[in-house]
Amino acid sequence: AAYETGDHASFMRKEMLEQPEAAQRVLRGRLDERFGTAHLGGLNLDARETRAIKRVKILGCGSAYYVGQMGAALIEELARIPADAEAASEFRYRNPIIEPDTLYVAVSQSGETIDTLLAVQEVRRKGGRVVGLVNVVGSAIARECDGGIYLHAGPEVAVASTKALTTMFLGFALLALQLGRVRDLSIADGRRLIAGLERLPAQIQEILDREDEIAELAGRLADAESLFFVGRVRGFPVAREGAQKFKEISYRHAEAYQTSELKHGPLALISPDVPTVAIVPADELADRNVGALHEIAARRGPLVVVTHDGVDLGEVAAARIVVPRNERELDPVLMTIPLQLLAYHAALRLGHDIDKPRNLAKSVTVE
Ligand code: G6P
Repeated sequence: AAYETGDHASFMRKEMLEQPEAAQRVLRGRLDERFGTAHLGGLNLDARETRAIKRVKILGCGSAYYVGQMGAALIEELARIPADAEAASEFRYRNPIIEPDTLYVAVSQSGETIDTLLAVQEVRRKGGRVVGLVNVVGSAIARECDGGIYLHAGPEVAVASTKALTTMFLGFALLALQLGRVRDLSIADGRRLIAGLERLPAQIQEILDREDEIAELAGRLADAESLFFVGRVRGFPVAREGAQKFKEISYRHAEAYQTSELKHGPLALISPDVPTVAIVPADELADRNVGALHEIAARRGPLVVVTHDGVDLGEVAAARIVVPRNERELDPVLMTIPLQLLAYHAALRLGHDIDKPRNLAKSVTVE
């Protein structure tokens, strides 16, 4: 049967609402509660090879690149392996050093993005090992990799990626668990993370159920010509993805910044016409983040804060979107969901084509 929007106004909305199920699918059969680990047989890596990995380099484009940054943080935190993400479109042009003890990870919804595919080929040509986190089964990138995991998000049609991103994040969490448990991650921490992963689908649903409230805030942001998305450490890739999505479909100028760097430049641009969407989880940086919100409020910049219950914003006048708490390592995926809804409802209000934004393609298959 043809893949249709059904009763939904757009594929993007349909795909956002499918996220709890997609999250369940990517986790299904891969969690091992007894040993506090994940089983990703398709990686084709045994425990000895896994322990030999000295570094992880993640390659992807667009939103896949930003989720790659979230994934790098997960791998560093859980597996304590130095990890970073790089735009696949840049990678091969700087004659990258390919190391035999680095695990390269290609991340792609379509599996057909030419920049990511060529990056994979460059790594393999020079003897590196690449695994894929790919949604489309049998796609070019999946075939080119030495191993990998499929994301099982189901078909994604809207240019603005939603459910594929969520499954990418969870794919990285599984990878981090598996890498971590043959190294320093304790069984207790492994089990803590597994319990957190199992709570996620219902928590995603809780956020989606508050669509009306988030739509109302999106209406206030839609009229701004320019806005900031800010976060720090774990929250920064969330801000980057939020800004990306907002740009893609609302055509507003949305710039992501590290909250900590605001005072080193862009604070000069904050005014009543320039709203900021701030990512403020209840983590070790909450107080510092709230300090930055005071700086924005003092310049009368409108604020939307994506946060947790218990974060005290003090006197700051801000609209709050409170997301459910999970294990802190998993905060980014939950904090991304309201940003999808903000972008979607801003674009809807502006009357844009949600699924096919101007100048963009779902997958870029030519250089
Ligand atoms: C295009 C799309 C982006 C997407 C990127 C990577 O640029 O417009 O939304 O994130 O490709 O796509 P992939 O299929 O590799 O995840």
